[in-house]
Amino acid sequence: MASASAAVRFLPNLPRPSRRRGIRCATERRALFGRIAPVYDDLNDLLSMGQHRVWKRMAVSWSGTKAGDTVLDLCCGSGDLAFLLSEKVGCTGKVIGLDFSKEQLSFASSKQYMKSNSCYKNIEWVEGDALDLPFPDCYFDAITIGYGMRNVVDKPKAMREMFRVVKPGSRASVLDFNKSTQPFVTSFQEWMIDNVVVPVASSYGLGKEYEYLKSSIDRFLTGCELEDLALESGFSEAKFYEIGGGLMGNLVTKR
Ligand SMILES: C[S@@+](CC[C@H](N)C(=O)[O-])C[C@H]1O[C@@H](n2cnc3c(N)ncnc32)[C@H](O)[C@@H]1O
Repeated sequence: MASASAAVRFLPNLPRPSRRRGIRCATERRALFGRIAPVYDDLNDLLSMGQHRVWKRMAVSWSGTKAGDTVLDLCCGSGDLAFLLSEKVGCTGKVIGLDFSKEQLSFASSKQYMKSNSCYKNIEWVEGDALDLPFPDCYFDAITIGYGMRNVVDKPKAMREMFRVVKPGSRASVLDFNKSTQPFVTSFQEWMIDNVVVPVASSYGLGKEYEYLKSSIDRFLTGCELEDLALESGFSEAKFYEIGGGLMGNLVTKR
């Protein structure tokens, strides 16, 4: 873990959206995730060749979730991380999966009914905004957010909300694409998006929706910047791990 003294590194001037632009942006993103919801899981499996399941297991493990915990999966989408968390906390624990897309949540909840494991009954799906969480302070034993931080319109606000609702001593685990500082990794990532991701998504009629990936990674934060953002938001420790050959990254923070 990086020490709190690392907080002296300065954050870049993150673009803070004006209120009106922020709302328009958030509405467009909610609509985008609603459109891709029906094929989201299939595309994740296809485009990552199943690797996203490994990265999600790592994110859950880094969150420090244990039996009996009450945990939050932010921007849960179709619920992969929430289901993994559910297995960890068991029948005595509780998982809340929160997302602002009704369509994603309805896929998550239909998957919950199809799965036979009775412990999945410990998951509750909540329609809500990561920037204004409907939970009291210091409520959760752990938080995960998979491929969500890159997509929220106000990243500092989302980080502050995560800090607010997690208990002192507990962790948040933030999995996403890595905005690499290595030119080779960035070029390879862009090549993959242009030549694999977008063409495959186009075959599902969703090419335009996935074109947005490249600019969202470009506007995202590097591992160091994510560590700084976490420390500036109040977390006492923050450490970023590159995974998937540097294409993905996972920030682990402790309140
Ligand atoms: C790329 S998906 C990730 C889904 C899932 N966590 C996974 O790893 O497969 C990003 C999700 O973030 C959600 N999202 C984006 N901004 C949000 C916000 N402000 N509040 C709640 N959900 C948000 C979207 O609706 C979408 O389901």
